[in-house]
Amino acid sequence: MVDFDGKVAVVTGAASGIGRALAERFAAEGMRLVLADIEPAPLQAAAEALRATGAPVEWWVTDVADAAAVEALAETAYGRFGAVHVLCNNAGIVPGGRFRPIWEFAPEDWAWTMGVNLMGIVHGTASFVPRMRATGEWGHVVNTISVAGLFGGANSPVYSVSKHAALRATEALHAALTEENSPIGVTALCPGVVRTGIGTSERNRPQALRPVGQATRDSDAMRQAAAAVTTAGLEPETVAGMVVEAIRERRFYLITTAAFDSAIRTRMEDILARRNPTPVDLLALSKGDVGARG
Ligand SMILES: NC(=O)c1ccc[n+]([C@@H]2O[C@H](COP(=O)([O-])OP(=O)(O)OC[C@H]3O[C@@H](n4cnc5c(N)ncnc54)[C@H](O)[C@@H]3O)[C@@H](O)[C@H]2O)c1
Repeated sequence: MVDFDGKVAVVTGAASGIGRALAERFAAEGMRLVLADIEPAPLQAAAEALRATGAPVEWWVTDVADAAAVEALAETAYGRFGAVHVLCNNAGIVPGGRFRPIWEFAPEDWAWTMGVNLMGIVHGTASFVPRMRATGEWGHVVNTISVAGLFGGANSPVYSVSKHAALRATEALHAALTEENSPIGVTALCPGVVRTGIGTSERNRPQALRPVGQATRDSDAMRQAAAAVTTAGLEPETVAGMVVEAIRERRFYLITTAAFDSAIRTRMEDILARRNPTPVDLLALSKGDVGARG
């Protein structure tokens, strides 16, 4: 049985949504925390709220797309607490106008999305996992992917590509640690729809990665439909509870809903049958996810 009490957790994207809920849950389990986010004010607020409950909390403004910043985060965590047991590479973004076809996305959209959603995980792995391995202690890495990393379709292509790649990176980490019989487990957290600030991700896009002469955006109807779905999503606290369970069970795939299983199965079967990809209606599946919970 994993005993979280007194252990150290690092959570990126900890100022909001799933990351903040993970931090709160880990604090309730008695863990010491290092919280990282690109948004200073909400990060400080999240850290102070947890400190007020008596939890030992450090916070560090970090852009996970920046390898040097993530290395500084690792130095801070080890400098303050001397160990890290649970690493949650959770920070992520969705570029605006996500329902456009793939050819309408600008190089800046790709650079920003891959920088945060894929390279954030890569940097976290490179800066923390060697330090975690060196102690020989129990540990666990939780990478936040998405169900969008599990199936195909035209919708949200840049985000989906980043999440497919992030999942493959997470599988590679799991395989390498398993090969050496490591005490460090890995979980690929693949949430369905969760009620968070993800729909306003553009708030965090760096100025240098804003495309000039942006192509057409989502229609208002499309945006409203997507916002309505997110608002009705699973509570982040519920996801945090599932994560704690998955860590205890050393479970790799944590898919928070079965609503996308048909699309996942169809993609796998299309590949094995050498059949052309079956179309996917992401919005309909997302509505089904929310509807399944009533
Ligand atoms: N909400 C959903 O429905 C859903 C579904 C599947 C996957 N996810 C994934 O969950 C993760 C958490 O997102 P969320 O839904 O809680 O959204 P959120 O916007 O509420 O939280 C994301 C946090 O990441 C931070 N962040 C953004 N860019 C960053 C950067 N470069 N460096 C450090 N921090 C950065 C934001 O400031 C924010 O605090 C993401 O990886 C997202 O892709 C969310």
